[in-house]
Amino acid sequence: MAKKTSDLRPDTVATHAGLRPWENHGIVNPPVYHASTILYPTVAELKGRAGRKFEKGVYTYGRAGTPTSEPLEEAVAALEGGFGAVVTSSGLSAVTVALMAHLAAGDHLLMVDSVYGPTRNFCDKVLKRFGVETTYYDPLVGAGIDALIRDNTRVVYLESPGSHTFEIQDVPAIAAAARARGAATIIDNTWGTPLFLKPFALGVDVSVHAATKYIVGHSDAMMGMVVCADEAGYRRVKGCAYDFGQCAGPDDVYLALRGLRTMPVRLRRHQESALVVARWLQGRPEVARILHPALEDDPGHALWRRDFTGACGLFGVLLHPVPPAALAAMLDEMELFHMGYSWGGYESLAVPYDPRPIRTATGWDEPGQLVRLHIGLEDTADLIDDLGRGLDRLTAAAKAG
Ligand SMILES: Cc1ncc(COP(=O)(O)O)c(C=O)c1O
Repeated sequence: MAKKTSDLRPDTVATHAGLRPWENHGIVNPPVYHASTILYPTVAELKGRAGRKFEKGVYTYGRAGTPTSEPLEEAVAALEGGFGAVVTSSGLSAVTVALMAHLAAGDHLLMVDSVYGPTRNFCDKVLKRFGVETTYYDPLVGAGIDALIRDNTRVVYLESPGSHTFEIQDVPAIAAAARARGAATIIDNTWGTPLFLKPFALGVDVSVHAATKYIVGHSDAMMGMVVCADEAGYRRVKGCAYDFGQCAGPDDVYLALRGLRTMPVRLRRHQESALVVARWLQGRPEVARILHPALEDDPGHALWRRDFTGACGLFGVLLHPVPPAALAAMLDEMELFHMGYSWGGYESLAVPYDPRPIRTATGWDEPGQLVRLHIGLEDTADLIDDLGRGLDRLTAAAKAG
């Protein structure tokens, strides 16, 4: 007897979920429907569908969903173990829709201090303007979050690990405390991906993804996903996304679904290569510390081992202090690692950053310079050569300066 999707193993789910070949002449991939207007044959049909626009398989208008967006939503929800998913136009719009779906004027939001910068920006600018108060909390707070929850706290927001400083949060402890006090939990699970962290099994209500990263996987489309644990949450988020006019273009949705099919294979290679490069970097004298939770000596390693089944290709390198010109001498001349703010594509990236100015609840007092690396699908020997030459340039420039 055929197995239910929920009984299949993750790689099989990523390969098969959302496929509908027998609705489409046996063609493997769902077709790309370019749709705004959807026609109704009769008044009765038009009226009948009006109240059902968020039901799967019911199409009313391009913005509300199409046979192109549905398979992607179905596949990501199945992979993460949620009830349903909503596709949005970018990762940041997935974050903002998830927050807006749960918050109203007078509410209080607990936001992790290590959060992605533009999410913080949205809280400080937009949510504040609409009467939502945000308190930032220490990513390592764990069950201590309880002391920060107020009567009007509606959302506790997590990002684990933080995509710049890589602290791993105690997700089940925070989710349990929030649930006990009636607050919803939303996690940015972009680093964990729907493959390596299953937030709903840890008690989280909503998981958001910058699908732009590993789901699309080829640095060629913007996309967000909001995945919800249960039907009530799904309806709330879907309704909010609709109210904001959120949707994604069909060609980009197609690219995301195509990316998802190979994501498990790519991710394992990203994981393996990132660990090879990270361990090599640990032996370099210019490096003070590597920020990568899958390394045994990382402060978040025990929680990562407990909750995650893998790690992606993104991690941080803390260099011993050097003058800015030495860092530029390293990064300006890299041959394979180019500078760019995204990650999750097939290519390697390096970007310098400083968390000091943006943190408010906790300080970042490491004296050195942080560089965030994304390890792509290149041969690690070539990546290590490139980094080695870069670090040599850094040392030479530091000595000269
Ligand atoms: C952790 C995290 N969340 C959300 C986003 C936003 O995604 P997008 O760039 O698709 O809007 C990013 C982008 O870098 C990110 O790193």
